[in-house]
Amino acid sequence: MNYDYKQRTHNKIFKREKFIYKFCKTKKKYKVERDFYLLANKLLISNMPKLYYFSDKRFLLILENVGKQITPIYFRNNLEKIHKIYENIKNLSGYYQNDILSKNICIKNNNLFIIDFELANKNHRILNKKGEYRNEFYKMYY
Ligand SMILES: Nc1ncnc2c1ncn2[C@@H]1O[C@H](COP(=O)(O)OP(=O)(O)O)[C@@H](O)[C@H]1O
Ligand SMILES: [Mg+2]
Repeated sequence: MNYDYKQRTHNKIFKREKFIYKFCKTKKKYKVERDFYLLANKLLISNMPKLYYFSDKRFLLILENVGKQITPIYFRNNLEKIHKIYENIKNLSGYYQNDILSKNICIKNNNLFIIDFELANKNHRILNKKGEYRNEFYKMYY
């Protein structure tokens, strides 16, 4: 699979039955996400995809396909469960995912998974540039 990442404005995702190919837009975001996955996989943290392969040349991550995105309604109805998963990832890895939205949560066989660790950081980033909570999830719990 050849992809010219330099022409793009967003990450490029290719979905396969078992794998997700994520060509990252920038080297910086690629590195943050790659390093987080390497750490989290080593610690066997659950409720997030496994990283199967990565290419530093192509800024490519090949991840476990963890199912379908949840809907905003499902998100609102399952905040408590999602919060527990988020906190567990933080407690085990030391990193906050920092981008909790329905788009970044998948469901497979009734199990929830957090994805998209480009903003993973040891600091919690719950406010936007205007100083407001980024969304209702952060407002409710932090
Ligand atoms: N491991 C995965 N399993 C299933 N779907 C995924 C996976 N990774 C990404 N996706 C799908 O691709 C979309 C974009 O991926 P994401 O990692 O969130 O990139 P972006 O930083 O562009 O938001 C997600 O919202 C999700 O629908
Ligand atoms: Mg995303």
